[in-house]
Amino acid sequence: MDVKSRNHLLLNRLALERDIKTSYVMDHMITDQVLTLQEEEKVKAQATQRDRAAMLINIILKKDNNSYISFYNALLHEGYKDLAALLHDGIPSITSYDRKDSTDGVAFCVRTILCEGGVPQRPVVFVTRPELVNEIRQKLYNLRNDPGWVTVYGMAGSGKSVLTAEALRDQSLLEECFPGGVHWISVGKQDNAGLLMKLHNLCSRLDLDFTYAQRPPLNIGEAKDRLRLLMLHKYPRSLLVLDDIWDSQTLKAFDNHCKVLITSRDRSVTDHVTGRKYEVHMESGLNDEKGLEILSLFVDMKIKDMPAQADKIVRECKGSPLVLSLIGALLRDFPNRWEYYLRQLQNKQFRRIKKSSSYDYEALDEAMSISVEMLNENFKDFYKDLSILPKDVKVPTKVFCILWDMEPEEVEDMQQEFVNKSLLFCDRNGKSFHYYLHDLQLDFLIEKNREQLQIVLRMFLGHDIDDILPVLL
Ligand SMILES: Nc1ncnc2c1ncn2[C@@H]1O[C@H](COP(=O)(O)OP(=O)(O)O)[C@@H](O)[C@H]1O
Ligand SMILES: [Mg+2]
Repeated sequence: MDVKSRNHLLLNRLALERDIKTSYVMDHMITDQVLTLQEEEKVKAQATQRDRAAMLINIILKKDNNSYISFYNALLHEGYKDLAALLHDGIPSITSYDRKDSTDGVAFCVRTILCEGGVPQRPVVFVTRPELVNEIRQKLYNLRNDPGWVTVYGMAGSGKSVLTAEALRDQSLLEECFPGGVHWISVGKQDNAGLLMKLHNLCSRLDLDFTYAQRPPLNIGEAKDRLRLLMLHKYPRSLLVLDDIWDSQTLKAFDNHCKVLITSRDRSVTDHVTGRKYEVHMESGLNDEKGLEILSLFVDMKIKDMPAQADKIVRECKGSPLVLSLIGALLRDFPNRWEYYLRQLQNKQFRRIKKSSSYDYEALDEAMSISVEMLNENFKDFYKDLSILPKDVKVPTKVFCILWDMEPEEVEDMQQEFVNKSLLFCDRNGKSFHYYLHDLQLDFLIEKNREQLQIVLRMFLGHDIDDILPVLL
């Protein structure tokens, strides 16, 4: 471990020993493969909380840079923001990270940097699209020495967010262009109040040692100034990723001479911001080969062994990765239903929901309807409740425990059913799970459940979900 990191641990040792509960912190570190189960046992064997914390720190002190950063991330994730702040300046620079690949082939340090920056993980079933990923990376290299904008644009559900995250899993790119890290913000469609909240949350996230956070900003102008100062003084060489931007007004709040990547359905959103601009067009659908690959990964068959209906399903879904994931998940559970699902997709007699103009995929409605219909009756209603989720927020298990009055384990088991069917997405860090819906899925649920929505909201005893979430998150 670097001397600097070691010193930070030693200097802040007392505060750390006093406050941390070791068990969740250790879960993160075990997931990161920097702590062994034997070491965990050794810590657990200590009599008091303080002794356990002291033992953990002793163990970390003998370890490498990766362990330091993993410990730091664990503190952040477990709500010890002020303790993490004490260690922040001791974080080793990216070039001195130990190069060691983790299980998924992504360098360890890349994984931790991206995790810290809130970059989503790969979906469980994932097909590579190397040309597009490389194109995004090449455009990002243009931001190495200068501020500017890279826009990844394309149809909803076409894979913009997934591929953008993938492009960032590249150690050289991070080292050369963004040594200050990456900060991912799910923006979505926002009114002024929502935008102000996003800016405020971003500033709090960046301002680890509370230099600027005297009080929440009063208006967007003030929030924008605060962000500008933070980026200039503390993160001059980092990348902001603004995922799913809807309008140029929102973007103006981030127009601060930074390095920014945005994803959007609208190519022209950057028309009114200043600086150099680069763009990448996300093809709307996968080619047949990649489409088939998604299905084959879901059903665990070789492409050549799949039945003839597979090609037709890919075409019927117009190659949409989102729709193919839904159908793939159904086929995994019911491997004999290729013909049935193909017919369902072709047969437009499905009870149609009113089209929201935000997307073009009839196939999505079909696929969602089939997937939801296939759920076990008990689960169907719970799934419909998810329509109260706010857009672009990853919601932790405990929110659902309150909503459904369930134990965390019950919630997680049920949510896993939805995740397995691609009806819900999950980011996992150590023992904590955060769930989110793709915005098209949310549109679908909201359209279907308009009347029911009020009833669910009442379950929160008259509170507005938007008021409750910030408290719980
Ligand atoms: N390369 C890929 N491999 C497998 N599935 C993918 C891939 N890209 C996207 N998907 C699936 O499609 C869904 C939508 O992708 P996403 O990137 O969120 O779309 P967008 O941001 O363009 O709306 C993902 O949640 C995932 O299930
Ligand atoms: Mg997206």
